[in-house]
Amino acid sequence: MTTRQLGMNSRLVHGGYHPDGTGAVNVPIYQTSTFAFRDADHGAAVFAGKERGYIYTRIGNPTIGAFEDCVAELENGVGGVATSSGLGAVSTLYMTTLAQGAHLVSTGAVYGPSRGLIENHFSRFGVTASFVDTSTLENLRCAMRSDTRLVYVESPSNPAMQVTDIAGAAEIAHEHGCLLAVDNTFASPYLQQPLDLGADIALHSVTKFINGHADLVGGMLVAKDEDLLAGLRNVMVTMGCNMDPHQAFLALRGLKTLGLRVEQAQAGALTIARWLEAHPKVQRVRYIGLSSHPQHELAKRQMRGFGTMISFELTGGMEAGKRLMNHVKLATLAVSLGGVETLIEHPASMTHAGMSRDAREAAGFTDGLVRYSVGIEDVDDLIADLQQALEAV
Ligand SMILES: Cc1ncc(COP(=O)(O)O)c(C=O)c1O
Repeated sequence: MTTRQLGMNSRLVHGGYHPDGTGAVNVPIYQTSTFAFRDADHGAAVFAGKERGYIYTRIGNPTIGAFEDCVAELENGVGGVATSSGLGAVSTLYMTTLAQGAHLVSTGAVYGPSRGLIENHFSRFGVTASFVDTSTLENLRCAMRSDTRLVYVESPSNPAMQVTDIAGAAEIAHEHGCLLAVDNTFASPYLQQPLDLGADIALHSVTKFINGHADLVGGMLVAKDEDLLAGLRNVMVTMGCNMDPHQAFLALRGLKTLGLRVEQAQAGALTIARWLEAHPKVQRVRYIGLSSHPQHELAKRQMRGFGTMISFELTGGMEAGKRLMNHVKLATLAVSLGGVETLIEHPASMTHAGMSRDAREAAGFTDGLVRYSVGIEDVDDLIADLQQALEAV
């Protein structure tokens, strides 16, 4: 049964489920590497695509397929390709859409390794790229070239929480005969559907909101049309960056509560963002749900909610950032985001320490910036934790 006509929470609970005849309420873990054929004719028919069937788990598996169908239904795509990690999805995307000599335009603050993959690896095959602040569409328009093949935006982006106009970016990409892919990780399919806004491919680090429990790493690509889907699948299968059935089972289980988790956490995020805005040791809060956020109105138009990610800048800079990390007790000092537990990190001394201060400022954030992924804990407890930690800063 397709769930596309249902509301978001119904899709989350029922999407991708096809009864297997046993009465199992959940999709079982088909923990097998290979699948037996009935006889030689059956094997030949499955290989020739004349009969539906499974061959080998790298190529396809019922548990992984259920997870792919569920996310594809949430994203309103024709199908999904699950990968071993979010970076596996990015690699598959680039391998499918870029060829020797191709040019990519991407968000300047795109997830670091998504940029590194181009600059350190695809560059060896003549791929070039322009990384620009895509929250201003004029920058994207100016970066387009006759050899541009892919526009790849991350919205909202990390850690400056910039929002790109996805419909506008799609128009520019398509005018130039290019594809638009959107890293939808920060919004999750519960809050934003890039394909409905004109994008051709939506990408996720499943590790984050989709799974939501910080207990696996995974990725997903959802395509707008069948040819694109077939191309992505072929590259994923050939590169061997498939998801594992157990990973898919856990991700499907996590996905069922995505709506509940996001609603609880984003209500907390708004309360915390407002509280931080009034705190004397906080210079600036970047939460797209605040009217002070430069792309608040755009986010309101293209998202169903403002999400759970907050960045805030401490007046005390680098030292204040480190001190805050050492004094929080409830929030966990760790990278990643989108889980049930609140995570905190200090980009200038941790994830982005390898960048020069000038490069960090060009990417839109200062040494005192703190990234806070709000979980589903009671908001009063989270505020009390921040209060006591900020007193020590
Ligand atoms: C926005 C974004 N995209 C992609 C990735 C890569 O995902 P993974 O860590 O699952 O490989 C991350 C990881 O942090 C991310 O934050």
